[in-house]
Amino acid sequence: MRKITIIGTGYVGLVSGGGISDFGNHVTCVDIVESKIKCLQEGEIPIYEPGLKDLIERNVSAGRLSFTTNVDGAIQDADVIFIAVGTPQGDNGEANISAVETVARSIGKNLNGYKVICTKSTVPIGTGDRICELITESMPEGGEFDYVSNPEFLREGSAVKDFLWPDRIVIGATSDKAFEIMRDVYRPLYVNEKPIMHTNVVTAEMIKYAANAFLALKISYINEVANLCEEIGADVHQVAKAMGQDGRISPKFLHPGPGFGGSCFPKDTNAIAALSRRKGTPMNTIDAAIVTNNDQKKRMTQKLKNLVGGDFSNKTFGVLGLAFKPNTDDVRESSSIEMIQSIMDGGGEVRAYDPIANESMKEIFPDLNYCDSWEETCEDVDAMAIMTDWNEFRGMSLEKLKTIMKSPIILDSRNILSVDKLVEYGFQFDNVGRTKVS
Ligand SMILES: NC(=O)c1ccc[n+]([C@@H]2O[C@H](COP(=O)([O-])OP(=O)(O)OC[C@H]3O[C@@H](n4cnc5c(N)ncnc54)[C@H](O)[C@@H]3O)[C@@H](O)[C@H]2O)c1
Repeated sequence: MRKITIIGTGYVGLVSGGGISDFGNHVTCVDIVESKIKCLQEGEIPIYEPGLKDLIERNVSAGRLSFTTNVDGAIQDADVIFIAVGTPQGDNGEANISAVETVARSIGKNLNGYKVICTKSTVPIGTGDRICELITESMPEGGEFDYVSNPEFLREGSAVKDFLWPDRIVIGATSDKAFEIMRDVYRPLYVNEKPIMHTNVVTAEMIKYAANAFLALKISYINEVANLCEEIGADVHQVAKAMGQDGRISPKFLHPGPGFGGSCFPKDTNAIAALSRRKGTPMNTIDAAIVTNNDQKKRMTQKLKNLVGGDFSNKTFGVLGLAFKPNTDDVRESSSIEMIQSIMDGGGEVRAYDPIANESMKEIFPDLNYCDSWEETCEDVDAMAIMTDWNEFRGMSLEKLKTIMKSPIILDSRNILSVDKLVEYGFQFDNVGRTKVS
């Protein structure tokens, strides 16, 4: 059993901790937030992620997984240390790696023998060198390490599945020895013949940014196609479906909507765009995807405003869906934030509901009127906007909805409601690339 420490027990660190212990390793997850570790030690899961509770419980019961705030001790005890702390967007557009740097110094200070240091956080290209420098500067005599970049591709909402059954594992290793140790950590996947790519460190760092930026680009592209569909009377669903049947394009990430959000795409596109400018090879396609995304969020608020006569003031709006996508409680950079802010800035009132993310959104908007169901949210509202495509909203009874709203006006920014049914029940509505406002 290899002894693994994961520093940073957030969406990536906790899922990785569960997954890597499930692969038969002995894992300690560390965090500096005491309440989070206490919660995990008491058997509670601090985030919502389907399947995560079972995964954690299974491995804690088997004695393979534990949680601590003792960073130094956990480093000293481990053979392999994963860095999975946050790298939020800094003021200059690039990722802020101060938490990664803090962890690198702690690792250096506690390096009692040979260890593999592996970064899972998404870090700007070239950060591997900086981490190695910080570890070397602070390590005692006899400290020895190899460095690995092992970017993570899990998606919130299906993170457990993505981690246990990944499409590929990328290992950017500074030595063959470190690569072999990492392959051993992921042994069950290797045995199952999942592709494990051995690259150098900067290539691994680049793979992560290039993949995320491409997906973001695809979303912005289909959003622009949808916007043009509105002008020419085409149906973007049929366009996207036919496009996706071409194997070179694939149907994934061709769903028009209110613009991408979350903790990754916005910051990762900005980071690679900023880096490319700094290196003198600007990525104009990514710059454009970012502009399109910001415009798409504004376009949604404008659509809602148009639906209610061009003015939010003295009106009440239901906002259904707060998470940046379904099956997560994460609201970071969610499109619903801009929608709520615009309504409030325009003098309107908001009734908000998410099946899971109400609590997370309270950290951004503590004083909204939070509700416990879509029915309660839509009671007596002047209009309603669907911002996240939770299945619960797909199944709403339009018949009932019409009786509880003050005015039957809907912005379906996720295109989850049937246009035919909306027409049949007499709703005034708008969506993304399907029909004009009736
Ligand atoms: N969330 C995703 O879907 C996803 C997917 C792939 C990659 N990533 C990348 O993984 C990294 C982590 O993302 P996340 O969403 O898990 O972030 P997160 O904010 O959920 O978790 C980060 C954790 O690190 C902890 N932390 C900060 N400084 C620390 C320190 N010095 N010592 C110990 N713990 C510390 C924080 O308390 C927090 O619990 C980011 O670089 C992100 O870009 C995220």
